[in-house]
Amino acid sequence: MGVCIYVDGNFYTDKEKATISVYDHGFLYGDGIFEGIRAYNGRIFKLKEHIKRLYQSAVSILLTIPLAPAKIEELVIETCRRTGEKDIYIRLVVSRGKGDLGLDPRKCPKPTIIIIADKITLYPPEKYQNGVSVITSSIRRNRPDTLTAQVKSLNYLNNILAKVETYRYGADEAIMLNDEGYVSEATADNIFIIKNSNKLYTPPAYLGILEGITRGCVMELASKMGYTVIEEPFTTHDIFTAEECFLTGTGAELIPVIEIDERIIGDGKPGKHFKKLLAGYQELTRSEGVPIC
Ligand SMILES: Cc1ncc(COP(=O)(O)O)c(C=O)c1O
Repeated sequence: MGVCIYVDGNFYTDKEKATISVYDHGFLYGDGIFEGIRAYNGRIFKLKEHIKRLYQSAVSILLTIPLAPAKIEELVIETCRRTGEKDIYIRLVVSRGKGDLGLDPRKCPKPTIIIIADKITLYPPEKYQNGVSVITSSIRRNRPDTLTAQVKSLNYLNNILAKVETYRYGADEAIMLNDEGYVSEATADNIFIIKNSNKLYTPPAYLGILEGITRGCVMELASKMGYTVIEEPFTTHDIFTAEECFLTGTGAELIPVIEIDERIIGDGKPGKHFKKLLAGYQELTRSEGVPIC
């Protein structure tokens, strides 16, 4: 299986050779931003949207990406091309770069740009068929007046600690609440619930979530399919009593949730609305995207 990694001007097909400095502030402090992107059958899905979000994250943390968006796009395509693969998971990272051992980002003259074109498997295949179980995490999602969740930053420790909580319960995923107790999102996915057959609810961005690109696709798709899409705060009670629940993300794609905190959702099986939306999403990934060559 082909892998290619771009690091600051060089491409490597041997992943052991793709290295950065231990003085890089991305490593020392999590000072940086990233995107997770997928290519399906030789086409990079929603590439422009991911690049746009990368630059928005950069603005937010006062990081100047030293290349134009079109150049980053080109490099992502080239890194993918060099894998020789058609189905790829791409991790695009821009860190503050090499500095000294202090926090001061002004000591980091040049951001580090990394593009990893590889594969990812977040859940075993049977979970896509049968659904996942989730718990409500005791770890809160970031408040918008701290580092907002809208920035896709290299600081994922809250999310990682929420994920660690799932081990104790044998669950697959964790739902994080915001500081007011409303549902925000899963550790690396957005959440949707279905009520009254044709109403699709998802938390609004202002609650403190990453505005997922998959989330946006599903909202658009659902509207076109005749669902009423509602961005509105909800609580875990709404998940307990939902007809269906599912998560969305570039890495996880669409995955059904069948249990939360020991309550079975709906009939405990992936629902018909989920299946319809999944089919629509798969059709999109098959038919859209920037060609790799
Ligand atoms: C915290 C968080 N929420 C949601 C998502 C889903 O976003 P997207 O659909 O753009 O991949 C991600 C993706 O990594 C994430 O890290």
